[in-house]
Amino acid sequence: MTRKPLIAGNWKMNLNHLEAIAHVQRLAFSLKDADFDAVEVAVFPPFTDIRSVQTLIDADKLKIRYGGQDCAETDSGAYTGQISAAFLTKLGCSFVILGHSERRLLNNESSADVALKLKSAIKHKLLPIVCVGESLDIRKSGNHVAVTVAQLKESLAGITKYDMGNVIVAYEPVWAIGTGEVAIPEDAEEMCGAIRNFLADEYGDAVADKVRILYGGSVKSGTAPGLMAMPNVDGALVGGASIDPDEFVAICRYRLALV
Ligand code: 13P
Repeated sequence: MTRKPLIAGNWKMNLNHLEAIAHVQRLAFSLKDADFDAVEVAVFPPFTDIRSVQTLIDADKLKIRYGGQDCAETDSGAYTGQISAAFLTKLGCSFVILGHSERRLLNNESSADVALKLKSAIKHKLLPIVCVGESLDIRKSGNHVAVTVAQLKESLAGITKYDMGNVIVAYEPVWAIGTGEVAIPEDAEEMCGAIRNFLADEYGDAVADKVRILYGGSVKSGTAPGLMAMPNVDGALVGGASIDPDEFVAICRYRLALV
């Protein structure tokens, strides 16, 4: 089975709704049909931008997809400051990022929390991007594969084989996020391959073959081709470089550097 690569731009808390419109317009101007034939392109703006991004994408019938950077566990209620998966679906989101290391660290989000959010995302037909990855200490200890796979297993708790087929996994080593220190392709492949083996054991070969596994952590246009050449790396979750439209477009076009 061929997995269509996904290039996802996680804007984090960058670009207000006016900047978001200008940014998406620049992406739309640069990206051509051939790019969208080769890769799926998605942006993850702050919540306050999503309505503006939706309006632009709908009006101009753009092929860029979009999603939220997080969602709540429940559909609605007394949860000040939270945004439900139901609301994201209503705004035309295709995806939602769950369990990003910044949320795990800064918002004390546990893998059990991620598993609950995942159920809500699936219920509302969002494609979840479940993030996992080890800290520098764990990497140095040599236990990075076991720790990351265990984190993934907990984050996926209670998910059926049927639903797992629509989940996307992102391997984002914490030591590579925002540090400029990108994992070398072989490191990314080691982990993404181990994740796929785990998925095969847990959900069967057909599901493991279908699930897209992204790499994230200091991906730039110069490093994307090497990472994307790895057989188990099916895309990139791009932070800092997704804020620069030219750089993000160049990452989406990594294939041109592979020929
Ligand atoms: P950077 O690309 O800025 O390292 O961020 C990666 C990331 O956290 C994407 O979700």
